[in-house]
Amino acid sequence: MLAPAVHAQANPALLGDKTAFIDDLMRQMTVDEKIGQLRLVSIGPDMPATKLADEIAAGRVGGTFNSVTRKDNRPLQDGAMRSRLKIPMFFAYDIIHGHRTTFPIGLGLASSWDLDVVATAMRTAAEEAAADGIDMTFAPMVDISRDPRWGRTSEGFGEDPYLVSRIAEVSVRALQGERKPIAADRLMASVKHFALYGAVEGGRDYNVVNMDPQRMYNDYLPPYRAAIDAGAGAVMVALNSINGAPATSNTWLLQDLLRKEWGFKGLTVSDHGAITELVNHGVAQNDNEAARLAMKAGTDMSMADQVYISQLPGLIQSGKVAQQELDNAVREILGAKYDMGLFKDPYLRIGRAADDPANVNAESRLHRADARTVAQQSMVLLENRNAALPLKKGARVALVGPLADSHLDMLGSWSGAGVDKQTVTLRQGLEAAAGKGKIVYARGANITEDKHIVDYLNFLNWDDPEVVQDKRSPQAMIAEAVQAARHADVVVAAVGEARGMSHESSSRTQLTLPDSQLALVLMNGRPLDLNWARENAAAILETWYTGTEGGNAIADILYGDVNPSGKLPITFPRSVGQIPSYYNHSRLGRPFTEGKPGNYTSQYFEEPNGPLYPFGYGLSYTDFSLSGVSMSQATMKADGRVGGAPGEGIEGLPQGAAAAGRAKGSALHHRQQGAQVL
Ligand code: NOJ
Repeated sequence: MLAPAVHAQANPALLGDKTAFIDDLMRQMTVDEKIGQLRLVSIGPDMPATKLADEIAAGRVGGTFNSVTRKDNRPLQDGAMRSRLKIPMFFAYDIIHGHRTTFPIGLGLASSWDLDVVATAMRTAAEEAAADGIDMTFAPMVDISRDPRWGRTSEGFGEDPYLVSRIAEVSVRALQGERKPIAADRLMASVKHFALYGAVEGGRDYNVVNMDPQRMYNDYLPPYRAAIDAGAGAVMVALNSINGAPATSNTWLLQDLLRKEWGFKGLTVSDHGAITELVNHGVAQNDNEAARLAMKAGTDMSMADQVYISQLPGLIQSGKVAQQELDNAVREILGAKYDMGLFKDPYLRIGRAADDPANVNAESRLHRADARTVAQQSMVLLENRNAALPLKKGARVALVGPLADSHLDMLGSWSGAGVDKQTVTLRQGLEAAAGKGKIVYARGANITEDKHIVDYLNFLNWDDPEVVQDKRSPQAMIAEAVQAARHADVVVAAVGEARGMSHESSSRTQLTLPDSQLALVLMNGRPLDLNWARENAAAILETWYTGTEGGNAIADILYGDVNPSGKLPITFPRSVGQIPSYYNHSRLGRPFTEGKPGNYTSQYFEEPNGPLYPFGYGLSYTDFSLSGVSMSQATMKADGRVGGAPGEGIEGLPQGAAAAGRAKGSALHHRQQGAQVL
């Protein structure tokens, strides 16, 4: 045990020198106080706010998450100010695609292929969250996913290492700002989930990841690296194992790769309960061993389990964990707090009680104009036969489908502090654009009639269920929709997945639309099997989950006030059997060539090969004819460039991606506005 401190306070004279300041503070800390710093706690039934404040005052907590307003966080910070050393708390939250204002989900943001659009969403989210007294977000989530069965595909930015890396970078900069310590209106970013979480076997959440080094380094690791190079202050360690070793106790991952090879100098945070889960993984016999392994590997902070606080005192005393190992972790936590500006002002983002907003959900706190513009850029037009879109404003529209008027589903998964009632549904958006009289709404169907699925999606939310079934029979609902369609010029069907179907712990074996539906406006968080819809719907607009202003933004596209310009950041396979399907496949000895016999090549023989919609695909309302196309040169150096007009999309995107984006007469310049139907 260290001797008790003489001056039990951080020395303000040293505040200008991070290392000296932290050294001085560490000299004053007892072992117990150090261990307390490693604990990241969530407010919940087991930990009510008053109990938590006492724990904090006793020096037994380093930070909290899920407490989301200045009013809630202030008494907790007051608790820290009552502690012996007055080490401030930090307050974290999952701000993934917006805070009070909800922007499109990750796949939607990536469909814009526009880094300014992503930056707007992330910067706004940071400003709103900082104004609520939050210091850190568990974002960006940059797991590459090639398997749409995985529910968390919705959260990420798709399959392409290059696109996702650029988005990772821009997200970190937008969230944190350029200054250190981070300014009062920005947050620390905690890039996740390190590493390779998107490659879980079979798309089953929390499963194993087995991967060769080439694929790892070329395809899956670059986005994390890009976020770290952009200055992300923290890294969240993934729940999965990698080639047999859980990330949480993986010394190669957290030390050799992250710290030595990549030079990361920030904080590592475990995922929820991941340290105690080392016992389930089978690498630790009990919590004691789990704590030892995680600490030795370099997991600095333990989220939501009690393993460090209960086990480390004994482990330090017995020498099984070295004092130096504990100090390394504490140093990173204090360093992060320093970089968040909290030692200078523990209330930097909490502010004064007198300035608290009277209503945290006040309309004036939302950024609707940005939400609408960002959503407009994030949708992908997949089909448009006979120029079915844009709709004429005078047309009578039958609006059907379980997602047509669902506030909650507009939010998508991980919607932070977004409030469902503040979203604009598609029904509201169309009515605002065309006038109520033009829109006849009929629900037409439930998301699913499968009770098992409904119960699964309502797990943990029995009192306030996410999925509320219309009690009418499927036949009655369809009859109402058919009746609506009879009197309409066009049917707009809003179908897809309830938001909970594309979420953590929402892996699927089928990617089909639930039986009861016919497609046109799609809301979903993963590539779906659209074979039937492709044949039978005149037009398909992939909207993902569009956020607070979704209904208006979709109406803007449907009525042609905005030209659809999104391009797919992820491949849509024809069937589940094709998974994984992605554009940047390694070369093979026996590749399949379209149009040639497939025998003894790498392919499936009973359905067409290749995706239903390729990576980079997306139409607009504009037709293009290209002529006189030639390559700027026939050969190129390894670091050279061939063809491609400068200024289109993102500089240096893979040639294949850009070409796919241009296929089928899609927009060459994706910011073009206004429909021009030829
Ligand atoms: C578990 C999730 O895997 C992670 O992404 C999230 O940040 C934490 N829970 C905290 O909510």
